[in-house]
Amino acid sequence: MSPPIFEFATRAIHDGQDPNKWNHKAVIPPISLSTNFQQPAPAAVHVGYKYSRGGNPTRQCLEESLASLENAEYALCFSSGLAATTSLTYLLKVGDHIICFDDLYGGTNRYFRTCAANMGIETTFIDMRSLKNIENAIKPNTRMIWIETPTNPTMKMVDIEGVAKILERYPEIISVVDNTFMSSYFQKPLALGAHVVMHSLTKYMNGHSDVVMGAIATNSEEIYKKMKYYQNSLGTVPSPFDCFLVNRGLKTLHLRMERHMQNGLQVAEFLEKHKVVEKVLYPGLKSYPQYELARKQCSGASGMVSFYIKGGIAEAQKFIKSLKVFILAESLGSIESLAEIPSLMTHASVPKDQREILGISDNLIRLSVGVESIKDLLADLDQALEISVSIIFHVVLKANLPF
Ligand SMILES: Cc1ncc(COP(=O)(O)O)c(C=O)c1O
Repeated sequence: MSPPIFEFATRAIHDGQDPNKWNHKAVIPPISLSTNFQQPAPAAVHVGYKYSRGGNPTRQCLEESLASLENAEYALCFSSGLAATTSLTYLLKVGDHIICFDDLYGGTNRYFRTCAANMGIETTFIDMRSLKNIENAIKPNTRMIWIETPTNPTMKMVDIEGVAKILERYPEIISVVDNTFMSSYFQKPLALGAHVVMHSLTKYMNGHSDVVMGAIATNSEEIYKKMKYYQNSLGTVPSPFDCFLVNRGLKTLHLRMERHMQNGLQVAEFLEKHKVVEKVLYPGLKSYPQYELARKQCSGASGMVSFYIKGGIAEAQKFIKSLKVFILAESLGSIESLAEIPSLMTHASVPKDQREILGISDNLIRLSVGVESIKDLLADLDQALEISVSIIFHVVLKANLPF
């Protein structure tokens, strides 16, 4: 694939949106709700679209834009991130084997462990920070390496280029990178040698907490053709209205991501210095254990910041309940700031002993730092931390009492 002529911001606004596609020259692609399209003659003669599950003009605009932003030849949209994941596993057959991170999005973990397993696909969960671990886990029936980087919520990273080098010796294995946390703006997995990029567009790519959607992008014509077939045959397609919204969201992705990073970094630095914070996990911090890898494979850091508050579940709950700007909610990557306790919420389905191994303890808090005023965000965190300090001191005082 030749390098794009225009910069990311220009492509985000124009690619896939050519007004000359439409007779009325609409600058913004219209929402094409029609489920079916008139055909000039029978016997498979059509003007590009027949039935909206197989292809839709609004979806096509979005798919062209996504391909451009991932520097890919092809992109396809799905009804959710998990629908994209499910459809990708149709590239495999009974008896095939997937290798993935032991610390990855809970829904993907659940899908591999239960649904894919029921279809006869075996998955091995390993610590993918080590390339050696990955190589050691490859078996004769391994057909897919599923990479999520950074992971949710402990921000562990996988060396995408390192995996691609290993796979030069295993042409039968497809690598997939879940790029949800970084978005197309901060990480380009295909350029690092991955075969497929997958997104939960629900997060940063749409960025406004009002659409659930997924996508894949690839430079392989073979993978694209198979996935296009599965998109239609499985029916895992999004609605034209949702495609319109994501298309609109993408036009400001570059602006939002820059601000998410600025705010994320300031929040991480603030937390790192705070007396009731034990440890901060943020790939943009020099103290982050994989900082050099983050610098090498990403062009920035997002607004995802996790940290351990001193104390346990009581302190974490007190902090979360005291927030006034950050909203207590799951999901991430939107303009508004969110906070959650993974052990009670997004990762409650992961068994406690497994959570402890992965570092998802009860005092871990995950923030999705939005694009609000940083002054207000820091003030909000400060006042909520001060309230949690008061219970820590209360507990310490009580513990010191002689009776
Ligand atoms: C990293 C990651 N991948 C995939 C998904 C699944 O996407 P969706 O919720 O759009 O199905 C999520 C959802 O939280 C996620 O965080």
